[in-house]
Amino acid sequence: MALFLGIDSGTQSVKVVVYDMESKRVLADGRAPHALIEDLPAGHMEQNPGQWIDAMDTAILQAVSQVDREAIKGIGVSGQQHGFVPLDKRGTVIRAAKLWCDTSTTEECALITEALGGEEAAIAKIGNRILPGFTAPKILWLKRNEPENFSKLSHILLPHDYLNYYLTGEAFMEFGDASGTALMDVRSRTWSNEVIAAIDPVIADYLPALSSSDQACGTLRSEIARKYGLSQSVLVSAGGGDNMMGAIGTGNVVSGVATASFGTSGTIYAYNDAPVIDPRGEIAAFCDSTNGYLPLMCTMNVTTVSEHFRKLLEMDHAQLNTSIESVPAGSGGLVLLPYFEGERTPSIPDGSGAFIGLNGKTMNPDYMVRAAVEGVTMGMNFGLQRLKELGVSTSEVRLTGGGSRSSAWRQIIADVFGSPVVSMLEDEGAALGGALQAAWCWSRQSDPNVSIQSITESATALDESTRLEPNESAKARYEELQAFHTSLSKSMEPVFEKHAAFKR
Ligand code: XUL
Repeated sequence: MALFLGIDSGTQSVKVVVYDMESKRVLADGRAPHALIEDLPAGHMEQNPGQWIDAMDTAILQAVSQVDREAIKGIGVSGQQHGFVPLDKRGTVIRAAKLWCDTSTTEECALITEALGGEEAAIAKIGNRILPGFTAPKILWLKRNEPENFSKLSHILLPHDYLNYYLTGEAFMEFGDASGTALMDVRSRTWSNEVIAAIDPVIADYLPALSSSDQACGTLRSEIARKYGLSQSVLVSAGGGDNMMGAIGTGNVVSGVATASFGTSGTIYAYNDAPVIDPRGEIAAFCDSTNGYLPLMCTMNVTTVSEHFRKLLEMDHAQLNTSIESVPAGSGGLVLLPYFEGERTPSIPDGSGAFIGLNGKTMNPDYMVRAAVEGVTMGMNFGLQRLKELGVSTSEVRLTGGGSRSSAWRQIIADVFGSPVVSMLEDEGAALGGALQAAWCWSRQSDPNVSIQSITESATALDESTRLEPNESAKARYEELQAFHTSLSKSMEPVFEKHAAFKR
């Protein structure tokens, strides 16, 4: 028997699955929450990496207590992308990690972009724009705002790298998650000296060497092996960002499939053999965590927005579903720009939520909830359409994340996307992806030719009972509404910028 632990450290919790390579099934799981630091100024989103460790320990112990620990051969870690974990020379965390959803670094983005010669030049040099979500501006922010902390900096890690470091003692970075730092040229898969110079040349020494994603990060430190009751020979694979691992866990390791994740963030991505560089920089040109590429669009407002409405309007999940179904497609012209947390795509870090179309009929909980879900879904569709414009083929969209559990929301997704959609049998895509990458890494030790596809093929089954086709009349309605939503969003950009002054 060969079992593999997949760990997904997200924005809200750590989830663990135990995957059995023989039966191709998840045998056990574990889960523990962690929290955002409260009462920070607007736009600052931070977490204490120590909390991720505590939550991971708890979730792993829960999961391994349900299975034969001796059968566990490997661990693969998935983590929220882009967070900046600053370590001193002893490997101690210097300050809280700024996260993917932190929008406090707009000035630093402008400074780095200017040093690179502007936005177009940045895309030419690294394949990506410099956006507040990414890691590079967070490092410059530390230098400009907390020079004392910056002077202690000796190692730069991403969230999943930090968990790997805790497990193995190795400071290691693989291509997939590293491509989201905006410090890496995704075409050459090397650190960009120009971005490094724009921040501070010293950081070149703080970045680990880049490794391919089929390499092992290491094996368990003896202390950790003892804590979990596992063998010290348990392999820790390279791991990756949660979207990269979600791609593995949804079988998105061949061209033609798109995954849409309706979670705390909304992401839509599709495996590609070659880099996909968007001249407009709307699609991020990421690498995946199997040594391929993963063009991706990320919005910051998905289930946070639907949850705000659900809680405000005192609905449970079943009521939310019924409410959505009771209102016609297009919500009678009630349209929501859902930028509650600011937004990455389109790039409106100062954005907030805005309704248009409130009147006597639509000023109603059912209309509001449906308009919220439609607004969020159109935000995601902006990315799907852009992927198609860039030539990425997607015949089917695989769904993961909490939002896709509602059947009414799933129908809206099919109608807005104008594409068949289907959910996965195993919903924890990123955690499963971690386990599958670990199984791949372990299998390659005895046979270097084992492909990731051979590992994912039978492990990532679709839940055919969730498959939905677009409804033609709703699809036509949403095509018009999408054009309106996109242009409304564009014309509101300067309004949001002016409005930012009133948020303080
Ligand atoms: C993607 C992104 C988010 C985080 C969420 O670029 O920033 O999806 O990875 O954990």
